[in-house]
Amino acid sequence: MSIIIKNAQIISATDNFTGDIFIEGETISAIGKNLNAKAEKIIDAKGLMVFPGGIDPHVHLDMPFMGTYSSDNYETGTRAALFGGTTMVIDFVLQTQGKSLRSALDEWNGRSKGNALCDYSYHMAVTDFNEHTQKEIKDIIEKDGITSFKTFMAYKGALMVDDRQMVGLMNEVKKYGGFVTTHATNGDMIDYLVAKHKAEGKLSPLYHYLSQPEITEAEASGRFTDLLNQTGSKKGYIVHMTCEGALNRIREATFRNQQVYAETCIQYLVIDASLYDKGFESAKWVMSPPLREKKDQEALWAGINQGLVQLVATDHCPFMWKQKLMGENDFSKIPNGHPAIEHRMELLFSEGVNKGRISANKFVEVTSTNAAKIFGMFPKKGSIAPGADADLVIFDPKEKHIVSAKTHHMNVDYSGYEGWELTGKVKTVLHRGKVVIENNHCFVNKGYGEFVKRSAN
Ligand code: URP
Ligand code: ZN
Ligand code: ZN
Repeated sequence: MSIIIKNAQIISATDNFTGDIFIEGETISAIGKNLNAKAEKIIDAKGLMVFPGGIDPHVHLDMPFMGTYSSDNYETGTRAALFGGTTMVIDFVLQTQGKSLRSALDEWNGRSKGNALCDYSYHMAVTDFNEHTQKEIKDIIEKDGITSFKTFMAYKGALMVDDRQMVGLMNEVKKYGGFVTTHATNGDMIDYLVAKHKAEGKLSPLYHYLSQPEITEAEASGRFTDLLNQTGSKKGYIVHMTCEGALNRIREATFRNQQVYAETCIQYLVIDASLYDKGFESAKWVMSPPLREKKDQEALWAGINQGLVQLVATDHCPFMWKQKLMGENDFSKIPNGHPAIEHRMELLFSEGVNKGRISANKFVEVTSTNAAKIFGMFPKKGSIAPGADADLVIFDPKEKHIVSAKTHHMNVDYSGYEGWELTGKVKTVLHRGKVVIENNHCFVNKGYGEFVKRSAN
């Protein structure tokens, strides 16, 4: 199939010009003004923007967590992603403590295979680094094409690794060109505060927030950068960064010439801790780390423009309301996570580009191009160039629409953004040369999405 997109405002991480894009099969074959190419389908994109399909580097689909499973599986989650202009996601394989990485990978392949509508990859979450795990790392990087290794510095007793394991993992992974990423909060401090609040009978969702103060994240972020430095790791990556204190630890790491990437998530930019004042309804926003203050949002927006924060992800981890009710009488039992996979791009465009906080080029950088570069998929993904996968979003920057659980496609019965009016809407999505979303319809079935092997760098 060949397609030509005509008269589009083409936006990449560096360019912004009007032109045509010619697509043959799964890839882009030419870009230019008034292209003289014969195509089977012509899309007139006059007045619309075209940018690379989004890459969401932090999602949890069908994940066993806190006694339940995240409510979007590979089919529903990746369909919702496509509706929102995201054409690739990176999920987390979670090692079960005492078991191998390979058995976890097999388990996740069982969930994803034949079920995804958009392309996907995995981070390997190491929760038990020992002599057996160590021997598995080389193949996971070189044969399976999984180059990023996630650690949790929190969730004590379930997922958390100690510093000895972290150092062991960093030293092993760097041998093969992989790198370590982390959920950077101090699990022991949090564990203490959770127990203290519970002992005092403070059981509402507000105390989830009060059990994870900024210092817990700043401390762990600093410790992580120190360990990267000590192990001579060329790079490292902090997931879902929320606050000024943690960002400043990254800033300090740059003073000693370290490369530590920071990912924030859309929620930390656009909503804040005042939402923890709503009684149990606040469970909708119980996530870890929790939402922060306005001053943290300002720091994160500035960090994006300073190049200290390279990605805006979602940490999409939805739970139905009845699952959130598991913690009705005890905040520590509320499954942590919130749904956003469908609205990351539109929220960031509306709140970021349309409100003058970031440029359209920066938007492309943090929603797509940087993820492709950092995670070893560029220029196949994250770019508009001849030879790249034709993963493209045709976007109306002016169209207004309302976010609602009544109309979203995620498998969750509420929205953290119910009733928000956004300016800027995904109109058409192409994924590997196929029109997958048009006129609010999805034209692809489960199984279209492919696993993307990544390269170490
Ligand atoms: O609350 C969150 N973030 N849930 C998902 C697990 C994690 O920590 O990323
Ligand atoms: Zn996390
Ligand atoms: Zn997560």
